[in-house]
Amino acid sequence: MNTIPPLDLARQYQALQDDINAAVLAVLASSQYIGGPVVAQFEQAFADYTQTPFCISCNSGTDALYLALRAFDIGPGDEVITSPFTFIATAEVISMAGATPVFVDIAPETFNLDAEQLEAAITPRTRAIMPVHLFGQTADMTRVMAIAQAHTLPVIEDCAQATGAIWQNPTGQTQKVGSIGDIGCFSFYPSKNLGGYGDGGAITTHSATLAEKMRIVRDHGRRSGYIHEAIGMNSRLDAIQAAILSVKLRHLDQWNLQRKAIAARYAQLLGNIPGITIPQAFQDSVWNQYTIRVNHEGDLHYLGRSRDRILNSAADVALNASAIEPPAPRRDQVRTALGEQGIQSMVYYPLPLHLQPVYAHLGYEIGQLPIADKAALEVLSLPMFPELTVAEQEQVRDGLKDVLLRC
Ligand SMILES: Cc1ncc(COP(=O)(O)O)c(C=O)c1O
Repeated sequence: MNTIPPLDLARQYQALQDDINAAVLAVLASSQYIGGPVVAQFEQAFADYTQTPFCISCNSGTDALYLALRAFDIGPGDEVITSPFTFIATAEVISMAGATPVFVDIAPETFNLDAEQLEAAITPRTRAIMPVHLFGQTADMTRVMAIAQAHTLPVIEDCAQATGAIWQNPTGQTQKVGSIGDIGCFSFYPSKNLGGYGDGGAITTHSATLAEKMRIVRDHGRRSGYIHEAIGMNSRLDAIQAAILSVKLRHLDQWNLQRKAIAARYAQLLGNIPGITIPQAFQDSVWNQYTIRVNHEGDLHYLGRSRDRILNSAADVALNASAIEPPAPRRDQVRTALGEQGIQSMVYYPLPLHLQPVYAHLGYEIGQLPIADKAALEVLSLPMFPELTVAEQEQVRDGLKDVLLRC
């Protein structure tokens, strides 16, 4: 049985290993491991790529988002509106800054923040809007930008999963994600469309003032030397990562095209299978994930289990042990059965952020953001990486058809 992983970074490395090895060895020989020309060259190349004048590299996508909030002095008493259906980092940084995340439900077709519901969430405390381009798909930036402008709120784009995605603005011009809002935040975690061989991130902006502020906070609150004008952090990108990313950046558009071709082939192969819903690209998607829905007919209460198990004491859990547990979503059985056939899949994300134990104090209830809740019970991300073969995609189709008959 041929095992198909959700992503296979080794295949990409094998194709590029001569260039990557040479770039890494050059850094090792240079003895300039932090900062220096290799990092500066990558920042310039990434600024050019994202069509922004300023790029500040940093240690992770999480730090990029945090630095963006710091650029706007967002802190205690402030609210930032974002999506509940994303990786925890998006909301975590809002909390790290001392502010409160406000979650707006997602649109069912895109898994991205539903811009139609955005305006109702704005309060006098709102200080920024943070849309996420989830799974590679651009958020509805036309509406988001219009609402942000109407309320003079900054927009911080979470581009972690969408490096290279393109949005067409209302005047018909195309813009890369990260150049649309005030600040774009990128992750170079290995599984991202542009991934390093360790942690890494970057921030892009059109504003020299914001760029300067973020550059200072990124490096211990200093411009240079040992004079510190802000409480900062150490969030520098290593030269080795910058060297690797510079090599890989040259291939990013080609890889994104391959991802699009794979998504189109999946659509052909899976489009007529009953019981699942395949994803669509609206404005653009660079398909960091190919996430289907395994349709869930039951109610949403299964989601309560994870939170309750953590929040309730052991005694409560024992007391409730006899209570009837809501059944697991069919998606979980499908995933297990696919795994038995060697087809590995992932669930991004099994619990939306507003229902996470860490955010219980915010008081969100199951069903309050029903589209995100339902997505958490239905999503299944199939193998997706640029080197995935036609034969592997056909194996996914055959496996899925077979499994859905049985589950
Ligand atoms: C949507 C989103 N935002 C932020 C991050 C954080 O990026 P990093 O892992 O580089 O800190 C991730 C990473 O998985 C992500 O998927």
